[in-house]
Amino acid sequence: MATPMTRPVMRVAPSILSADFGGLAEAVHLITPGADWLHVDVMDGHFVPNLTIGPPVVASLREHTGLFFDTHLMITDPARYLEAFRDAGADGCTVHVEVGRTGELLAQMRDLGLRVGLAANPDTPFEAVEPFLDQVDLILCMTVFPGFGGQSFIAEVMPKVRQVRRAAETAGLSLDVEVDGGIDEHTVVEAAMSGANVFVAGSAVFGRPHPLVAAKGILRAAEDAVNDPPTRP
Ligand code: DX5
Ligand code: ZN
Repeated sequence: MATPMTRPVMRVAPSILSADFGGLAEAVHLITPGADWLHVDVMDGHFVPNLTIGPPVVASLREHTGLFFDTHLMITDPARYLEAFRDAGADGCTVHVEVGRTGELLAQMRDLGLRVGLAANPDTPFEAVEPFLDQVDLILCMTVFPGFGGQSFIAEVMPKVRQVRRAAETAGLSLDVEVDGGIDEHTVVEAAMSGANVFVAGSAVFGRPHPLVAAKGILRAAEDAVNDPPTRP
């Protein structure tokens, strides 16, 4: 009988994209007790049509929390900036497979001592990330098209989440499978049941009156979904 693999630990990663940028340090302090990771969205106005933050802001936030910085690089030329993000205090970086030169980028991240993540947009197939599964710590399946917070969860990405989790289990890899976009206490259920274990949430955390309670609620909903799955008709 096959031994079921133990699923990697469930984590919630609040995204500061939806926090008040005028008070980022306070937002991070507020969320730290209920967050496993802090998701930092970096946008270059080229890979995505929006601009956000760079290494100086990461360095400033590093002074305020010991949380793992899960740095999501939605940028066309990550090779140019990886070292700066590492020096600023990023713990893990995730690059998009769509920007190309993936093997080189993953090796560069590994050499820099970063935890290595690879992201795929909603319309990028599993086959694009499949060759790299044994070179990464995390696969990020985008559940919205990157660029903005507050968009609706794209449930059609779930078959890809299942493919990644199944392939990782088959290969004996304890990969983190992260979902990002439109995650709240409801959509997280389907994502967790599909095999995701890291849940990024921006507006469903910082857009709520009690961000700490909201973050804890998302994690609890994910854990409940896996431990006590809802019955389907
Ligand atoms: C979108 C970003 C997300 C964003 C998620 O491009 O990568 O991390 O902050 O925001 P919500 O949770 O509001 O969809
Ligand atoms: Zn993100």
